[in-house]
Amino acid sequence: MPSRLTPSTAPDKQAFPAMPDFAGRLIVWQRQHGRHDLPWQNTRDPYRIWLSEIMLQQTQVSTVIPYYAKFLARFPTVAALAIAPVDDVMALWAGLGYYTRARNLHRCAQAVLEQHGGAFPASVEALAELPGIGRSTAAAIASFAFGARATILDGNVKRVLARVFGVVGFPGEKKVENAMWTLAESLLPSNASDEDVGAYTQGLMDLGATLCVRGKPDCLRCPFAPDCVANVTGRQRELPTSRPKKTVPTRRTWMLVLRDGNAVMLEKRPPSGIWGGLWSLPEAADEAALADRALVFGGEGARESLSPLAPLTHVFTHFKLDIEPRLAELDPKVGTLAALGDADTAWVALSELDSFGVPAPVRKLLDGLQGSLI
Ligand code: ADE
Repeated sequence: MPSRLTPSTAPDKQAFPAMPDFAGRLIVWQRQHGRHDLPWQNTRDPYRIWLSEIMLQQTQVSTVIPYYAKFLARFPTVAALAIAPVDDVMALWAGLGYYTRARNLHRCAQAVLEQHGGAFPASVEALAELPGIGRSTAAAIASFAFGARATILDGNVKRVLARVFGVVGFPGEKKVENAMWTLAESLLPSNASDEDVGAYTQGLMDLGATLCVRGKPDCLRCPFAPDCVANVTGRQRELPTSRPKKTVPTRRTWMLVLRDGNAVMLEKRPPSGIWGGLWSLPEAADEAALADRALVFGGEGARESLSPLAPLTHVFTHFKLDIEPRLAELDPKVGTLAALGDADTAWVALSELDSFGVPAPVRKLLDGLQGSLI
């Protein structure tokens, strides 16, 4: 069945290639190569379709199948589910994960019973008002159960559209997602029978789940291969665009490697904060302050005598730490005992580091030092 022309320009100003026969080609492909025997197919019962769509959110088909059978056996109708204690629903759901779905499933069944007399509404808009049913799930239910001309747009479909039409930008970003909704709606089959609409929706799902997969798409079998932007330009791995890397702030610290032969001075960190309670190198916020600390500890600590070691960077979840290590020798006149400030400092032989909890990057720094100290 031919579809309308795709728009040449999306709201975010990306131009997508027109593919007027997208829907027709997808429906033909789905009928020949798509999935036809999943337990929730070959029915127009909105209860069964809704139940499967909720279970299939974020969960693979093979995981869902036994749960789907158990639920239908225990709750054969939406009314049976609505009047069941929520604990029974949760118990049957145990193992499927994302438990908000189970609570919403129960609430949704109750809303269908109380607000819609036990019959699921047929429109996407009314379905999307119910607990746990977003725009894409509403479209899946409406198209499968009622033949509604409504498009789904889940993660798999976003991947298919990004590749076939070359949609650039992270699909989790609102602007990109809106452009994809507009594109997806423009691709719907026009003048399609209920069966065609169902095959079209299933085709989008099947293409994303079986051929246009994330890791290694099977482009040789894809009905859109000759026109697919990603395939034609060899950008299957770039599309869809990945989530942008979070830019984390960078902090900088100076660390003192005060040594006496094969031993270094470690300082116990405060109990809370990064590396809380671990043994690390004494730190300061700049080089001059580090030289002062070295002096206090008995290092030959004039600024000139601190020798720079190779800097290193450690990445935490919320920030990056640039470490500037500086090496100083203990003044032989001071001696290690005198150099100990308090109970929170210790002279530790490099060969004894295993008995101290030392943060990984500091340990790496000290291990690098070991070879050079005789
Ligand atoms: N994922 C979401 N809905 C699905 C369906 N109806 N069949 C297969 N996988 C799906």
